Amino acid sequence: MIDRVFYVSTATPQATSSRVARIFSVARARNGSNDITGFLLFDGECFLQYLEGDFDALHTLVARIVADDAHRTIKMLPSPAIANRHVQSFSAGFCEAGIIGEISAIATSSPERAITAVLGRKELFDLQ
Ligand SMILES: Cc1cc2nc3c(=O)[nH]c(=O)nc-3n(C[C@H](O)[C@H](O)[C@H](O)COP(=O)(O)O)c2cc1C
Repeated sequence: MIDRVFYVSTATPQATSSRVARIFSVARARNGSNDITGFLLFDGECFLQYLEGDFDALHTLVARIVADDAHRTIKMLPSPAIANRHVQSFSAGFCEAGIIGEISAIATSSPERAITAVLGRKELFDLQ
């Protein structure tokens, strides 16, 4: 089975644009080498992250992410394990303010619909 983590968090003043750019590049490089797929979005106020991978790799990563002072009030969105990956690579990027609120509302009822909302409208997000 593929484990999943989906959350929304609030940026702290430590989340400067250069810090966020560094988080994006570290996440792309490390997640790629740990076979963790998904996406990370930032709208200037909130982060939204969806991750898929092996249980151990994912939980080691999440412990590091949760401890990061660039964000707080991490709200986990229920995402049961799945048989096959929904996302084949990892990307990260910026989106317009307000979009994360919309996506996280969808994610509360169905993570699948929220994933489709992001990946199906990639042109709206600066995902790389
Ligand atoms: C919202 C958010 C999402 C993050 N996502 C990832 C990620 O997917 N992969 C990753 O390696 N680091 C991610 N990070 C960065 C880690 O928290 C950490 O800073 C980075 O992995 C470097 O860790 P180190 O200083 O212990 O080497 C994220 C940080 C934040 C604030």
